[in-house]
Amino acid sequence: MFLNSKGLALILALCISAIITGCMFLLPDLPLYAYWVVFLLSIGTSYILIAIVLEFLFFKELRSIYRMFEQIRSNDLSQLEANKKYGHSSLSQIHKEIYDYAHNKQSEINELKQLAQFRRQFLADVSHELKTPIFAAQGFVHTLLDGAIDDKKNRMKFLKKAAKNLDGLDALVQDLLTVSHMEAGDITMQFDSVDLVAQVEEIFDQLESPAGKNGIQLKLNNHFGGEKLVKADSARIDQVLVNLISNAIKYSNEGAEVTVSLIDHIDKVEVCIKDTGVGIPAEHLNRIFERFYRVDKSRSKAAGGTGLGLSIVKHILEAHESEIHVTSTFGEGSEFSFELNKYAG
Ligand SMILES: Nc1ncnc2c1ncn2[C@@H]1O[C@H](COP(=O)(O)OP(=O)(O)OP(=O)(O)O)[C@@H](O)[C@H]1O
Ligand SMILES: [Mg+2]
Repeated sequence: MFLNSKGLALILALCISAIITGCMFLLPDLPLYAYWVVFLLSIGTSYILIAIVLEFLFFKELRSIYRMFEQIRSNDLSQLEANKKYGHSSLSQIHKEIYDYAHNKQSEINELKQLAQFRRQFLADVSHELKTPIFAAQGFVHTLLDGAIDDKKNRMKFLKKAAKNLDGLDALVQDLLTVSHMEAGDITMQFDSVDLVAQVEEIFDQLESPAGKNGIQLKLNNHFGGEKLVKADSARIDQVLVNLISNAIKYSNEGAEVTVSLIDHIDKVEVCIKDTGVGIPAEHLNRIFERFYRVDKSRSKAAGGTGLGLSIVKHILEAHESEIHVTSTFGEGSEFSFELNKYAG
């Protein structure tokens, strides 16, 4: 109880005034009151000075270090005092060291918690996505085994539906593998010169039939004409363009237009994929690049979408040191754009 700043100050002040008063006995013929005056004055001033020094230099710092240890012991690091101004004394430095250590630990804990939550969510999403096509295919196969195989009129229909669900399952597993390889950094990009004009024209040829079925027009807008050579991984950029152009077709109504523009900048080429389709409501815009995120679930599923396309696009572009931008007006259409470095030879 005595070992606080006041107790310690009182003991030290008593010692100092006893020494001073003791020294006064060396002087001859001093009146008794002089001894008392010096004793009381020295004890009073030394007590005040020592108490102030101890409190501000020592005990205050020790108390906050102790509080910090209490928080660390109770694992309550979230309340740690932030942005504290530290002095130059050794205690302040110790305080700072402990604070930095605890702060780093708290960041690690938060990161681990986030990762655990992320893993739980991912597992739940994957199981949910796998469940639907597996159950559907299983249902059709069992119906056939239970006798529908003899029903000549319907057996082909059931088999086709089972096959369609299994194809969807295959696409989902392929996309999942791509995403997980990219996140693990297992995929290395093979950078080479890629002519975006030729690549977009080839993709238009591939997607002509789904676009034509819905009366959707595909246009290439090549500013200033000629080739557009960029430094990219050809297969991966093809994947990006196919994903974005097929999204533009999938999420458009009859008679819409999909325009791919290739715009020259000093050392980059900007690629814009614009559609006059259904558009994306503003509140979904920053979530569409998340895995499995779909705005209109029924439309995406009906079109065989896995909800992984845009997250793959984002990863591929990140590996090209680029990023994807989107603007959209619900009911009017969307525009996705990104830039690639020009091929420098
Ligand atoms: N051009 C677009 N117009 C309107 N909505 C879009 C467009 N592109 C994407 N979206 C919305 O963003 C969601 C996520 O797109 P993403 O490409 O990741 O998945 P998906 O098309 O559903 O499936 P996948 O591409 O894996 O086959 C889509 O489900 C759709 O709701
Ligand atoms: Mg898609």
